[in-house]
Amino acid sequence: MIDVAKYAKDGYVVIPGFLSDTQVNLLLNRSRELLDEFDISNHPLTRFTTGEDAEHVGDQYFLESGDKIRFFFENDAFDSNDGKLTRPKQQAINKIGHGLHMLDPAFKEITMSPHILEIAKQIGFVHPQVLQSMIICKQPQIGGKVPSHQDSTFLYTDPPSAVGFWIALEDSTLDNGCLSFVPGSHRNVPLRSRFVRMPQGGTGFIDLESPSSYDPKIESESDFHAEQVAKGSLVVINGSVVHKSEANRSDKSRFIYTFHIIEGNNEYDSRNWLQPSEQGFSCLY
Ligand code: FE2
Repeated sequence: MIDVAKYAKDGYVVIPGFLSDTQVNLLLNRSRELLDEFDISNHPLTRFTTGEDAEHVGDQYFLESGDKIRFFFENDAFDSNDGKLTRPKQQAINKIGHGLHMLDPAFKEITMSPHILEIAKQIGFVHPQVLQSMIICKQPQIGGKVPSHQDSTFLYTDPPSAVGFWIALEDSTLDNGCLSFVPGSHRNVPLRSRFVRMPQGGTGFIDLESPSSYDPKIESESDFHAEQVAKGSLVVINGSVVHKSEANRSDKSRFIYTFHIIEGNNEYDSRNWLQPSEQGFSCLY
């Protein structure tokens, strides 16, 4: 069902039309319902930040979100003077996570489906487990950029095994912050760090050993290939491929649904920011 050779060569593959318009609309409507329903009055106003200069998010609301449906704000949704939201809550949320695949029937059905299991098997998984899921809103005008990264930094197993499933719920374009990849980088850019719970509290990065031959020039701007995709497209993303997305300064949102799987046979340790709930991660089969 997917082009395994292309996935192995590039580290990602696009499958247009993976979801029908009906399925896309169902998930998009459900996303908007979640935004309508959530109660801002007792929310800690946690922002989701990944910028190079900003502190990475690491409060309890974030750390304990693995088996919940929680809401993280765009950094630029607040007035810099009085700290108040500059727009309605529905247009201020960066992402919703990280337990949609466990708790919301519409997202669970798409995630825990035979199609996904089939793809996981095709790319070599033996015991695929879903460990997190998110709706990323990429709001008009304020949708934050996501700097160059490898997903396995944040979802580390030994050896690395994370794979992202990224589904466009709206057209994803150069204007509203589509993904860009360095094709083949999963084969020649080693993971340099992992994102962990720090002993003193909060989160941070710790170094992994990298071969001395690592050449940082591989991530120059010209190495990135932008992938504009239509709504309903699935992008399967190797956890080691370098990718990023630009800020959304357009008037159109860029809603997507994404979840990640790991190989259950690989070691997942207690330093990772995301820890399984008592029932463990969700086995695809
Ligand atoms: Fe990513």
